[in-house]
Amino acid sequence: MKQETLTRALWLTEDTEPVVRMIDQRFLPHRLVTRDLKTFQEAVEAVTTMAVRGAPLIGVTAAFGMWLAVLESAQAEDFEEKIGQAALQMKQSRPTAVNLAWAVDRMLAVLKQTEDREKKQQAAFETARAVMEEEIECCRKIGEYGLALIEEIARRKQGKTVNILTHCNAGWLACVAWGTATSPIYQAFQKGIEIHVWVDETRPRNQGAGLTAWELLQAKVPHTVIVDNAGGHLMQHGQVDMVITGTDRTTACGDAANKIGTYLKALAARDNQIPFYIAAPSSSIDWSLSDGVDEIPIEERSADEVIYVEGDYRGERLAVRVTPEGSPVSNYGFDVTPARLITGLITERGICPATREGLLRLFPERK
Ligand code: MRU
Repeated sequence: MKQETLTRALWLTEDTEPVVRMIDQRFLPHRLVTRDLKTFQEAVEAVTTMAVRGAPLIGVTAAFGMWLAVLESAQAEDFEEKIGQAALQMKQSRPTAVNLAWAVDRMLAVLKQTEDREKKQQAAFETARAVMEEEIECCRKIGEYGLALIEEIARRKQGKTVNILTHCNAGWLACVAWGTATSPIYQAFQKGIEIHVWVDETRPRNQGAGLTAWELLQAKVPHTVIVDNAGGHLMQHGQVDMVITGTDRTTACGDAANKIGTYLKALAARDNQIPFYIAAPSSSIDWSLSDGVDEIPIEERSADEVIYVEGDYRGERLAVRVTPEGSPVSNYGFDVTPARLITGLITERGICPATREGLLRLFPERK
């Protein structure tokens, strides 16, 4: 199945050399702005400023960033040192999504395979491109497996609309193409299944209101934006058939970190016996961790994101203050949903229980 009505968050274009072009997501949904990543520092800055965001996409950006670092250091005597520093800087650019470290380590492993600088450049480019293409394929497969879950609910509801709630943006903007949580939604929609998506606004950066809603609107998928606290009410009133979200880091035991507020949705879903799924490509599984609540690093972001609400007013970008001057503010970017609240993990190899055994059944090479 083709991703006909959709597009990509990042792609390669040709000048005299290949160029990495990306959507600068800070301007959405009001303006569609694209940017070229020409240097390693630009790639780091794109991640730290959230011009690109979403776990799989920042992994792909990190891979191309490392390729740019290799190009920039190609003639350097202290090549190894420079690449080591670049790897460290890239890994530290955002702490929660494991995709960054995963992609950087994959690039480092390839670079170790040859001493020849030209070959290193070529291998770095080919590997970054492979990371991108593999992520797209993982998302497509997640969509196929997730589609079966939606089809089952549609059958049970005898064709009545299937209502799916999602949090943050785990769409193609977060993943290059398809999305993780949205891939089953797009595939169900393309198959003609009646669906409707409840889109959590996702304060403070509004990835739901600004990005997921924009994506769904482009694709003509029926959806409604709700404030973050509305989900529980809708669940109590039979308005939600399933929840699907993405993840930034899932432990080997199935605990899943995702955008702040995901845990509360999982609690409400459990109280209302609503299935709660996490769409988890293998690039976001951290096999070195078990207990997500204790072990996953949680990003804390600028207080300004909470103090000010940003938006568009008659074509002008504005930030307005919502808290009184002097009130302390905290801004945790992510929370961890314990495995016991997760109905299943939708991976590119199939759906499994959120347990070590479940994951190892799909990824036996990790035993
Ligand atoms: O802070 P963000 O916008 O990078 O957070 C993104 C999320 O939390 C997504 O749900 C997660 O990365 C999964 S994306 C497929």
